[in-house]
Amino acid sequence: MDDYRRDPADRAPSAEARILPMREEDYDAVRALWMTIRGFGIRALDDSREDVVRFIRRNPTTSVVAQADGRIVGSILCGSDGRQGALYHVCVAREYRRRGIGTRMVAYCMARLREMGINKVALIAFASNDVGNAFWRRIGWKPCDVNYYEFVLNEDNITQFIGADNDD
Ligand SMILES: CC(C)(COP(=O)(O)OP(=O)(O)OC[C@H]1O[C@@H](n2cnc3c(N)ncnc32)[C@H](O)[C@@H]1OP(=O)(O)O)[C@@H](O)C(=O)NCCC(=O)NCCS
Repeated sequence: MDDYRRDPADRAPSAEARILPMREEDYDAVRALWMTIRGFGIRALDDSREDVVRFIRRNPTTSVVAQADGRIVGSILCGSDGRQGALYHVCVAREYRRRGIGTRMVAYCMARLREMGINKVALIAFASNDVGNAFWRRIGWKPCDVNYYEFVLNEDNITQFIGADNDD
């Protein structure tokens, strides 16, 4: 069933999720979560252990995980280049959605960025991502009328698109 139309009665009972900084040792659990998120594009290099660890070392306080029932059920890679903050791979496991976990993780990231003196934070949401766009608008983010440009520096950084939630 499409997430957007999922019956709220489907929500699993669970203890309150804990919002915690993401550590290097969370990589395996976070990657396993990413691989269940329909629509995610997982990059061969950027999302490898080596590159994620490099990202966390460069931004040691800003990425976040949500833990519930003894496992990681949400995560955000968040960092800053010193001028602007960026969020990547914002996700919550299907059975834990619509409980405010995504909102709490984003609030955590924004608080850490503010502490660093960062004034603006950006992310990319595909126009076709109804759930993602509903979420961002609901929590007060504004879409921008811009063209997003990119230039590939390394052709080995291929993207694997996650086709279906593995917990379907
Ligand atoms: C987007 C995502 C992270 C939201 O996580 P979440 O923990 O369910 O979000 P929250 O519970 O904090 O939702 C906050 C509000 O956003 C809106 N929202 C969230 N999911 C929604 C949905 N499926 N349909 C409509 N509105 C939704 C609601 O207004 C919600 O408040 P409400 O439940 O009181 O109505 C989660 O759905 C997800 O992982 N989606 C797949 C990955 C993805 O698309 N990430 C974003 C990439 S840009």
